[in-house]
Amino acid sequence: MESGIGRKWSVPDLHFGSGKMKSTVLTSGLLATALLVAACGARQVGFKADVEPIVKQYCLECHAPGGQGTLASGLDMSSYEALLKGTRYGSIVKPGDSLSSVLIMLVEGRANPAIKMPHGKAELPKDKIAILRTWVDQGAKNN
Ligand code: HEC
Repeated sequence: MESGIGRKWSVPDLHFGSGKMKSTVLTSGLLATALLVAACGARQVGFKADVEPIVKQYCLECHAPGGQGTLASGLDMSSYEALLKGTRYGSIVKPGDSLSSVLIMLVEGRANPAIKMPHGKAELPKDKIAILRTWVDQGAKNN
């Protein structure tokens, strides 16, 4: 019995003895990790660097003070504080939970299609939606 365990331990040494094999295993392991990180969008998203430019480009024309979206819903997106405050009915961002954040529901078209945002325009590109979603999931920080 003791000798059986001893024999098991020697098996990896025999198989991975060659340097070539070792580096192949290592390289494909690194590649898989890199792909996984890219697929999950696990990098840190910043409000100023990533989120604000999207809001500026796609939302502010209606969701700044005096804009039609702000007048209709109370949602002003011209600052982090205003965005986190939400509409006159309540917040649209639930930090850490993109699934139940109204902001994400609307840009993904998961709510009533009549109020899909941006209002009456082409939907956001998928990569922009992914940035907003990741920002919310990472805590909707003012970073
Ligand atoms: C062309 C103008 C326009 C643009 C651009 C626009 N919105 Fe709106 N938004 C509106 C209007 C109008 C309303 C009120 C809609 C209603 O209540 O039927 C609204 C309402 C909202 C609401 C509140 C919905 C509710 O009643 O709970 C959210 C959240 C919102 N917009 C997010 C966004 C986001 C995010 C963007 C950018 C990706 C955006 N909007 C771009 C016009 C716009």
